Amino acid sequence: MPTFRAPRGTRDLLPDDAARFLRLAAVARDLADRYGYQPIETPIFEQAAVFERGIGEVTDVVEKELFRIAPRTDESESWALRPEPTAGIVRAYVQHGMQTWPQPVRLTTIGPMFRYDRPQAGRYRQFWQFDVEAIGDPGPAIDAEIIELGARFYAEVGVEGVEVLLNSIGDPACRPSYLAALVDYYRARADALPPTERHRLERNPLRILDSKDPQMAAINAVAPRIVDHLCAACAGHFAAVRSHLDALRIRHRIEPGLVRGLDYYSRTAFEFYVTGREGQQQALGGGGRYDGLVELLGGKPTPGIGFGLGLDRIALVLGEQAESGGAPGVGAPGVAAPDVVVVSADPNDTVGRLVVATDLRAAGLRARADVGRRKLGRQLEAAGRDGAHFAVILGDELAAGQVQLRDLEAGTQRTVAMSDLARELKRGASQHKHG
Ligand code: HAM
Repeated sequence: MPTFRAPRGTRDLLPDDAARFLRLAAVARDLADRYGYQPIETPIFEQAAVFERGIGEVTDVVEKELFRIAPRTDESESWALRPEPTAGIVRAYVQHGMQTWPQPVRLTTIGPMFRYDRPQAGRYRQFWQFDVEAIGDPGPAIDAEIIELGARFYAEVGVEGVEVLLNSIGDPACRPSYLAALVDYYRARADALPPTERHRLERNPLRILDSKDPQMAAINAVAPRIVDHLCAACAGHFAAVRSHLDALRIRHRIEPGLVRGLDYYSRTAFEFYVTGREGQQQALGGGGRYDGLVELLGGKPTPGIGFGLGLDRIALVLGEQAESGGAPGVGAPGVAAPDVVVVSADPNDTVGRLVVATDLRAAGLRARADVGRRKLGRQLEAAGRDGAHFAVILGDELAAGQVQLRDLEAGTQRTVAMSDLARELKRGASQHKHG
């Protein structure tokens, strides 16, 4: 047992996994760019109040899962690691006066989030999200743009069988009468409610619908549904989002129990689900409209909508899919091999190898120097194991400005002038790629 281990609920992404993540992130970035979402980076920690006020005090994310940073004795401010990026991005929108920019402001970020969750497969304490936000447009077209963008991400990275679940959770005009009906329903069953849910009944009854407690599944299944209580404006918006999605041929299923786990939502709420190998449903992403959030964080009333997609879960599902014979998808493991390894006949000449490799890299090649003081045979064996296509062998010809260029796959070798080396290698590397 090693003395030190990664903290519970966190993972080291070793090179294969890290490479898969980077490739998922590259697809995300490219897609966001094509849709006109501009990159934004906000701090990984914020004033805890940004999350408490934005996400809501009576939510699992704030009540149970917030990673609070113990305040230093000389600071009164209380900080927390971000459990999600939306509140921080909206804080930045207000702070930097983005309401004066052309609306909606389309923003995107990719990065690690932190929740003190109970760790299990696909649920971590540090996890990555691909997030997009469109702030400043009331919809419904932007709602459909965002949902379609999410669906396209799964298609482009090769996740199969993703389902779009959609709901409307109303707005401040229609939610109070719905909440009254919900409270009546739960009050009549108060004895069957676990302590957390009984506490929520008084403070935030909508959250009961989002309970992870297995005892609540049956009670929640027949609870009053918000779709039956929408005001005319919310019902109209919901219908319009659906018709936009239909026009974009985005299949979606209405899920009346979908309320999301964060308090800032209003109207459109959605999740992307996939059924895993064990038949277990996994939320690979989710989002919705948050028309009150900008105001809650000190700005003028401004509508907004966005989503967060869980890259850890997406990588997990892609891995399972490949194992069960499905499409491997983007980001299948495999770290690119070098084009060339520079070796030498003189076991002690590490300087020569480093200089030549440095020149080849400057010319744009993927070159590695063998940095060990070992015999030529050993150096060539290692180059083969690395998957390099070519080895450059430094030997006696160096005095005449020449080296041996060995094709490790074909097992052939020829003399090349140093001045031609980079060009020859580039030609060879591109032949390998296309051959
Ligand atoms: P969320 O549903 O809390 O929404 O998280 C979005 C996604 O992040 C989830 O669907 C899941 O894939 C992933 N995720 C959440 N928690 C974990 C965890 N502990 N381990 C692994 N993956 C996890 C939000 O965060 C909102 N900010 C989305 C949004 C953006 N709404 C509007 N704009």
